[in-house]
Amino acid sequence: MSVNRPAAVIVLAAGEGTRMKSKLPKVLHELNGRSMLGHVLAAARELDPQNSVVVVGHARDQVRAHLEEVAPEATTAVQEEQNGTGHAVRMAIEDMAAMGTELSGTVVLTCGDTPLLRGSTLSELVAAHDKEGNAVTVLSARVPDPQGYGRIVRDAGGDFTGIVEHADATPEQHAIDEINSGMYAFDGALLSEVVQRLSTDNAKGEEYVTDAVALLRGDGHRVGAWAADDWHEVQGVNNRVQLSEARRVLNDRLLTEHMLAGVTVVDPATTWVDAQVTIGPDTVLEPGTRLMGATTVGEDAVVGPRADLRDTVVGAGATVSETTADRAEIGPGTTVGPYTYLRPGTRLAERTKAGAFVEVKNSNVGTGSKIPHLTYVGDADIGEGSNIGCSSVFVNYDGVSKSRSVIGDHVRIGSDNTIVAPVHVGDGAYSGAGTVVRDDVPPGALAVSEGHRQRNVEGWTRRKRPGTASAEAADKADRHRADDEQ
Ligand code: UD1
Ligand code: CA
Repeated sequence: MSVNRPAAVIVLAAGEGTRMKSKLPKVLHELNGRSMLGHVLAAARELDPQNSVVVVGHARDQVRAHLEEVAPEATTAVQEEQNGTGHAVRMAIEDMAAMGTELSGTVVLTCGDTPLLRGSTLSELVAAHDKEGNAVTVLSARVPDPQGYGRIVRDAGGDFTGIVEHADATPEQHAIDEINSGMYAFDGALLSEVVQRLSTDNAKGEEYVTDAVALLRGDGHRVGAWAADDWHEVQGVNNRVQLSEARRVLNDRLLTEHMLAGVTVVDPATTWVDAQVTIGPDTVLEPGTRLMGATTVGEDAVVGPRADLRDTVVGAGATVSETTADRAEIGPGTTVGPYTYLRPGTRLAERTKAGAFVEVKNSNVGTGSKIPHLTYVGDADIGEGSNIGCSSVFVNYDGVSKSRSVIGDHVRIGSDNTIVAPVHVGDGAYSGAGTVVRDDVPPGALAVSEGHRQRNVEGWTRRKRPGTASAEAADKADRHRADDEQ
């Protein structure tokens, strides 16, 4: 829907949020990869407003630092003391006026603690506001439990006449289940004028923005209320129970979108995705999977069971099970897991394998190469078609600095090797089991460690561990050997 570009979106976020019982300001608590404030600003961004202003108060430095990261387009207005929603709006407007911003056009007012709000709902609110030519249009919703909210009062003809706060409502008004969401579309010029006239003559002694609605109506302007279809969208989060409920709702909404776009989600109850995640069609998410941050998954992949991927790229047709990955790239057709840890800077090319109990960090693994089991690869560049034998360790750290190991194409590193960086193993080279690779290996050479030769000390157990089960077993084996030899 195309709507007129609003002059501004104002987001109220000055409150402390004491019921979160947290050191973190309420609006910075996270769900599905964004703070609550981040979700609200993402919705606001869909309106393409000329100005985005966040009213900050409590922990304002923390909120400002966060905004610089997630919404650099937003400016902040300070509300020193929380003297009410109307006072907060006045602070934002006076700040904009001081910076020469004229509010001709629509001003949208929202709160920082409603993470389920959709951009499309704000667009519909603004469209209804423009169409009806209102001075203010209140976003309302019919909710299962209206306790505590301001109620929307309508006349016999159904026309909106005003908002009554819960504390001031009559018993009949308490039965009204259409509530004020605390979000509005205002005529900017009229709002700028009316916020100067808000009184503090009420129970809380605060400036209420809801009074602006009554004042504008009293001046003879048209006012309206537009109801959102999904009441969850206007639900404010005040404590951590409500935060978990909002996370569940948002997650289900995101999974539904993915499923309708062709992704199989085997168990939505245990699958969690962040808002920015993308997933290709015909990919299957197995139970217990979390896709976080900017993770992208191609088509025809299988992720999970139990995969935790953050800011990771998974190529088409890859299989990733029982894996923790952070800032890794998993190429098309590659197999990862089970029980695999991919750390930042891991790049697995096409059709590679990182198998059970393998950890990889800051390394490039070329097309078709395999690290099948029980191995640590750190700071390495491995070419194409190579195999790293079971139980090998890339020793990249001498206690002071880190160095890289380079393994060429079609190399066969034997089992239980120790690759001591910096070192270079040439194309087509082999190494024997248990080799400690300290020196470069020329292409096509076999590396083996001397001084590693095996020596057997006969009769050691009987002499040094007499009377043990091992000594007894050895004696028994010796007797069998003697019998066999006869
Ligand atoms: C307000 C509305 C009520 C509506 C409800 C929806 C008024 C008088 N009432 O009530 O009709 O149903 O929201 O949630 O507006 N804030 C500031 N500075 C302040 C006060 C509040 O930034 O000085 C912010 C809060 O951080 C919060 C939002 O504004 O994000 C709403 O404030 P709150 O005190 O929760 O308003 P309610 O009394 O719940
Ligand atoms: Ca509230």
